[in-house]
Amino acid sequence: MLPAIPLEEMVSQAKATYLQRYGVAPQWVVMAPGRVNLIGEHTDYNDGFVMPMAIERYVVMAAGRAEGEGDSLRVFSDAMDGECTIPVGEPVADDLPQWGVYVRGVLEEMKAAGFSCGPLQAVIRANVPLGGGLSSSAALEVATATMVEAATGRSLSKPEKAKLTQRAENIHVGMPCGIMDQFSSAACELDHLMQLDCRTLATKQVPFSNPNITVLIINSNVKRELASSAYPIRRGQCEVAAKQLGVTALRDATMVMLNKMESQIEEVVYRRARHVIGENARVQEMAAALEANNWAQAGELMYASHDSLRDDYEVSCDELNLLVDTAHQIGTGGGVIGSRLTGAGFGGCTVTLVETDAVEDVARRIGQTYQSTLNIEPTLFTTRPAAGAHIIEG
Ligand code: GLA
Repeated sequence: MLPAIPLEEMVSQAKATYLQRYGVAPQWVVMAPGRVNLIGEHTDYNDGFVMPMAIERYVVMAAGRAEGEGDSLRVFSDAMDGECTIPVGEPVADDLPQWGVYVRGVLEEMKAAGFSCGPLQAVIRANVPLGGGLSSSAALEVATATMVEAATGRSLSKPEKAKLTQRAENIHVGMPCGIMDQFSSAACELDHLMQLDCRTLATKQVPFSNPNITVLIINSNVKRELASSAYPIRRGQCEVAAKQLGVTALRDATMVMLNKMESQIEEVVYRRARHVIGENARVQEMAAALEANNWAQAGELMYASHDSLRDDYEVSCDELNLLVDTAHQIGTGGGVIGSRLTGAGFGGCTVTLVETDAVEDVARRIGQTYQSTLNIEPTLFTTRPAAGAHIIEG
């Protein structure tokens, strides 16, 4: 299993790279984490419920003032081994790399919100796996917003920061994502799951630090191209379903309402709605199960969520199914509580709850089965719920 790089180490590395590149020490260091969603998938853009936690994988930014006039950012990314300069308030440069597009979007939205940062330079040290469904882009966006907060000495509320960074992704990247990822990176808390109502943005921080339970994340290391095209199609189908059911969003619909309309709704749209309505209920049931320490039920809810994402929402794939099925076969006898795909789907990661004593054995067994069946090496790591984005220095 991959060990976590301690945050302090990433901070030191970012500061050292900054000093090496710019010849001075940074004035500010900020971080934003990736996230894993325990349950509540494809519910956020239906005004529904989600239950993510931040993970011990981060985007760290070290930054300081640069020479020059106007708002701009010269930024180096270690993960990408590249540098770009982003003038704020100007059209996108043709040669701006994709990671720079995320950063630029946030700078533009921060400026529009009155956060004029002046000329800055920064270094990014990041280890959230890219394209793994663990919100590497949201972490980059929220880190950028936090850096601008540090540089301007002003701050946004966490919900405002989440909405601004989501808007940056919607408008400047063109990905019509919901609020979950940015909200998680901005507002999750150490040793807590975050129950989020994506309509009201009300949160409940649920303590999650039982030493006997470990969160195991397994990256299938496959990414389907379909992810970016299928996501807006799913969103559209949900909107059609809500309209046909006469509700503002699927959050307001019930299974009874859906079943009454079954004959009038296109079959595929019916199944999409059935997933969302069922998944919203599962988040509420999960909250109750965790409160009651009912791990058996928590596990069942995770498997039910996966089945629904696979069959009704059709966002799973063979690789993710193999990971979840293998975990399920090991079962409670072998220390597995529950497992499901996490994030948008079409590749990426699964999240599995495991009894801590069994986690090494479970990871080895799932890893071996996956590799010997598909000849793809998965990446496995455990994590406790990490802290949300904050200024570390400055
Ligand atoms: C992606 C999106 C989120 C959410 C999930 C699915 O991560 O960015 O807004 O919709 O997919 O739950």
